[in-house]
Amino acid sequence: MSKKAVVLVTRKLPPAVEARLKRDYDARFNSEDKIYTSEQLIELAERAAAIIPCHTEKLTAEVIARLPASVRAICSFSVGFDHIDLDAAKARGIIVTNTPEVLSDATAEIAMLLMLGAARRAYEGEHQIRTETWAEWGATQQLGIQVTGKRLGILGMGRVGQIMARRARGFEMEIHYYNRSRLATDLEAGAIYHERVEDLLPHCDFLSIHCPATPETHHSINAERIALLPDDAIVVNTARGAVVDDDALIAALRSGKLFAAGLDVFNNEPGIDPRYKTLENTFLLPHIGSATRETRDAMGFRALDNLDAIMSGEEPRDRLV
Ligand code: DGY
Repeated sequence: MSKKAVVLVTRKLPPAVEARLKRDYDARFNSEDKIYTSEQLIELAERAAAIIPCHTEKLTAEVIARLPASVRAICSFSVGFDHIDLDAAKARGIIVTNTPEVLSDATAEIAMLLMLGAARRAYEGEHQIRTETWAEWGATQQLGIQVTGKRLGILGMGRVGQIMARRARGFEMEIHYYNRSRLATDLEAGAIYHERVEDLLPHCDFLSIHCPATPETHHSINAERIALLPDDAIVVNTARGAVVDDDALIAALRSGKLFAAGLDVFNNEPGIDPRYKTLENTFLLPHIGSATRETRDAMGFRALDNLDAIMSGEEPRDRLV
């Protein structure tokens, strides 16, 4: 009987995913779902052929340089890969994969929820009910902004952005977008392309962020760019917190320049900027874009498909380096 390859699984994964791992590999699970320090991760990777991390594990150049020589693959349980230094992995000959496509619907659902929740002041309404401070119905109370028929600007028209556009069309929204390259006409489906982010922003009653965190997008939603949005605009982020400059967003939410923000992702998760929690015009969720039963299973199976391919010497479907 051939020996099963050792695989370090850094977080607790859905039961069906762990069952498949157990069947096919000598898997080191994290049953308590603790966040490992870099030192622990390096130690636990001893003799492992592969690591399955989540975005919560920061695989920096320094960590990757210290991984045991046995590690041949990092198959991330995530579409985002800003937590992995790809150059460092490539330099060590470690193959890195992610899990695109399978979480696009779930993430677009959360973007819609945030857009609606922020526009209709869902946090304040919920809070009134739970704290029994809902005094009486009022014709001028709790007035939000209608979503139907408004302009939605999509920053990053990849898979999630395109699904978001489709869902928003159900609300008769006019879609504008910025993307590094213009989409083919059939994929655009009538969406209006802007060549620069600065050109997009004045058209956004709602701005939904769907671009990855990269050195180019880091804090790119800053004071200058927020100033280009129409007054009373609403910002939604389901991509990565690092795209947003918190000081600038909070200042605009406080001053009334922006009507509201709906955020699922933050800088420094889970220790987010505490000022967001003090604002009534924020609708906040704890990075649950992909958190459906179906999607988390699909992410796990996709990561394992990649792992299986690498372990059998084949090209994995979602190779990043
Ligand atoms: C992703 O897959 O990138 C999600 O943000 C969860 O990590």
